[in-house]
Amino acid sequence: MSATAPTAGRAPRTANARPLLPPGPRGPAAIHFAQLAQRPLESLLKWHARYGDLFTVRYPVFGTGDYVADPQAIRDLHTGDQSDLRAGEANAPLGIVLGQRSVLVLDGAEHMRQRKLLLPPFQGSAVTAFRTTIRDVAEREVASWRPGRRFTMRERMRALTFEVIARAVFGVEQPARIEQLRRTLSAVIDRQYVALLPRALQRDLGPRSPWGSLQARLRAADALLYEEIARRRDAPDLDARTDVLSLLLRARDEDGEGLTDVELRDELMTMLLAGHETTATGLAFAFDLLLHAPATLARLRDELASGSDAYLDAVVTETLRLRPVIDANQRKLTQPRVVAGWELPAGVAVYPAIAVVQRRADLYPEPDAFRPERFLDGRTESYAWLPFGGGIRRCIGAALAQAEMAEVIRTIVTRVELRARRARLEHVVMRGVTLVPQHGTPVEVVRAA
Ligand code: HEM
Repeated sequence: MSATAPTAGRAPRTANARPLLPPGPRGPAAIHFAQLAQRPLESLLKWHARYGDLFTVRYPVFGTGDYVADPQAIRDLHTGDQSDLRAGEANAPLGIVLGQRSVLVLDGAEHMRQRKLLLPPFQGSAVTAFRTTIRDVAEREVASWRPGRRFTMRERMRALTFEVIARAVFGVEQPARIEQLRRTLSAVIDRQYVALLPRALQRDLGPRSPWGSLQARLRAADALLYEEIARRRDAPDLDARTDVLSLLLRARDEDGEGLTDVELRDELMTMLLAGHETTATGLAFAFDLLLHAPATLARLRDELASGSDAYLDAVVTETLRLRPVIDANQRKLTQPRVVAGWELPAGVAVYPAIAVVQRRADLYPEPDAFRPERFLDGRTESYAWLPFGGGIRRCIGAALAQAEMAEVIRTIVTRVELRARRARLEHVVMRGVTLVPQHGTPVEVVRAA
């Protein structure tokens, strides 16, 4: 399937024996980064159309990487032996905020141990139980929307998804405590960009410097998180509780060991950072698409009124196909590896190109159209629909995120009528490591129940 000229498993080499990388855009790395930041989808799709299923892009800070847009090659990367593919190492800068024991920055056996402990609270019945919490939070949010009120969906959805994490993951119920967590943790989120700054700027130049203020905010956040962990350890009803933190406190690995307080702190921070803005952005994209597709929105309302959730689930799946929140997951090669017929050298990053695969016309006819109907049978192809990545690093919160998107969309479309304040669909831009609607999807409430 690869459009890149395949070799016999070994890349041609240049005269000085440096491996030749697959073709890709030429010119300064800073220009490629600017193109990716300003028009990520258009840039990736343009490079794919020009260079094929494997193309090399050079970025400042992140270095050289190869995007892979062939589902078979992505399958090969995500299955079988992955010990030469490091995701934790690629995520290392995030460790400043997440902590060094976060599942996101670990690799190998340490990663697998944390992952196995984290997975059960996010599976099947646990997520079904969270739906009630999500509906409660969404109902309360929508109850305050009055006709004429204007806001951006991304901002309101951030507030909502924070509350879902606070209740379902942290297990905190008291509104005042949720508010305190929101203020303290949002202060960290607003400064997380510091982790991506060049090393020279990651120094304490006083409390007002980016680094100094991040450290102060982290100390305040850590104090609250450790307080919450200590309280929960002593909670008389710990064994009966169903929030993720309580489940993690009871979890044991194969040697009968539980998670330490530092590990719990790092995973709470990870779940917040990985699960709060991503889901909020997914919802903002869903409303951008729905409010610009009246027939689709009308059908969604009809199907919900008739008691069927199939179309609602298809809307979530199609939103994540057309507007993935992460453009590409990433792995760093520790050894040379043959990818789509090219031997890539150790040290380069490999990016399974989520945003590009999901626009392949051979897999999705009329790939640029928003058509939930294509997913009405409920089936998705693991390596052609991968908004949550794949393999041993696939998103732990995928089921929660999809349930959350579905319940929030259900509540909003059945309770209120919104109008998009922009005539056309939003441009997609890059913020940090995520794709977002450029203006956050501004809306106005037209009718409220
Ligand atoms: C629409 C919402 C979300 C999207 C698009 C998303 C996407 C992703 C992606 C692309 C990855 C990387 C996978 C890979 O490298 O192969 C990931 C990892 C992860 N996500 Fe999510 N995510 C979302 C929501 C959540 C939620 C709600 C949580 C938890 C509360 C969560 C927790 C995590 C964790 C812990 C990892 C690291 C897994 C590992 O390294 O083993 N995510 N997510």
